[in-house]
Amino acid sequence: MKKILITGGNGLVGTYLKKILNRENYSIFAFGKEHLNIIDSEKTYKIFKDLKPEIVIHLAALTDVDFCEKNPETTFLINSKGTENISKLSIDFKCFLIYLSTDFIFDGMKGSPYSEEDKPNPINIYGKSKLLGEKYIINNCEKYLIIRTSRIFGKGGKNFSSRLREIMKQKKEIVLTTDLINSPTYASSLAECILKLIEKEFCGIINVCNEGWCSFFEFGLKMKEILNLNLKIKGISFNEFLRIYKDIAPRPKFSPLSIDLLNSLNIKVDSWERGLEKFLKEY
Ligand SMILES: NC(=O)c1ccc[n+]([C@@H]2O[C@H](COP(=O)([O-])OP(=O)(O)OC[C@H]3O[C@@H](n4cnc5c(N)ncnc54)[C@H](OP(=O)(O)O)[C@@H]3O)[C@@H](O)[C@H]2O)c1
Repeated sequence: MKKILITGGNGLVGTYLKKILNRENYSIFAFGKEHLNIIDSEKTYKIFKDLKPEIVIHLAALTDVDFCEKNPETTFLINSKGTENISKLSIDFKCFLIYLSTDFIFDGMKGSPYSEEDKPNPINIYGKSKLLGEKYIINNCEKYLIIRTSRIFGKGGKNFSSRLREIMKQKKEIVLTTDLINSPTYASSLAECILKLIEKEFCGIINVCNEGWCSFFEFGLKMKEILNLNLKIKGISFNEFLRIYKDIAPRPKFSPLSIDLLNSLNIKVDSWERGLEKFLKEY
C-alpha cells in the first residue's frame, strides 16, 4: 500500500481528501498544524524520516487572503518558505510532491479562462506567496504535480463561499459582488480529481475546478434558488464593496481556469451549479 503524507490535513480540502483516499488502497497519514508545522524543519524532517512516504500532498497554507495582505511576513514564511521546506524533504526522500496552487497567481486581466501556460502576475500577497511556492517546486523537484484551483467550497470550510449558506439563512438581506468572477470548486470534486491524477501519475501543472464560472452574486442567487430562501441579495461592484468593508485585499477581476487539459485526460468534473447542489445536500 502506498503511503501518502498530507500537510494541512485538517483543513477543508484535507477533510474531503481523507474521506476519499481512505476508501482506496492507500495508507494515509494526514497531519494538522499541531503535529506537523511546515515551518518547523526539524520535526518535519523526523516525520518524513519515520514515515518515508511515497506521495506528499501539501495542502498547508494560510488561506485567508485578507489576513495575508495585512501579514506579509507570516504569509511568505508559511506559504513560500514552508513550501520550500516540504519540497526539500520531498526531494531528499524521493517523494512525489503534490502542491495546491491558486487562480490568484493571475492578475485577472486576460479576459478569457487561464490555461496552464499563461504567465502568472499576482496582485496580492496571498497570490505572490503561493507563486513563490510553485517556483521553488518547478525549479527543484523532479516529480511534482501543481494543481491550480479556485474558490473552494465545502462543509466545515471557514472561507466565505463555505459560510455563505449560514449567512444567507440568518439574514434578510445581503450584498454580493457582481464583478469578481472565477470558477467555484466543490472540495469533493477537487478531492476526486486529485485521486484520479495520482492514479494516472500525472506530473506538471494542471488546473482543477468545477466547470463554468460565476460572480459571488450569481453563486448566491443559485444557492438561494436551491435552498428556496426568502432573502434579498443586492449585487454591488467590488469597488463599492471596498468602500463598505475595509482591509480587503485586491483580487483578480476575472480568473476562471480552463479545464481543457483535465478533460483531455478523460477526467470529467461537475458544473459549479451541480457541485453546489451536492454540497447543499450534505446538510
Ligand atoms: N480555499 C480556497 O479557495 C483555495 C483556492 C485555491 C487554492 N487553495 C489552496 O488549497 C490548499 C488547501 O486549502 P483549504 O481550502 O483546505 O484551506 P484551509 O481549510 O485553510 O486549510 C489549510 C490548513 O493549513 C493549516 N496550516 C496553516 N499554517 C500551517 C503550518 N504552518 N503548518 C501546517 N499546517 C498549517 C491550517 O491550519 P489552521 O487552520 O489551524 O491554521 C489549515 O488546517 C491550500 O494550499 C490553499 O492555498 C485554496
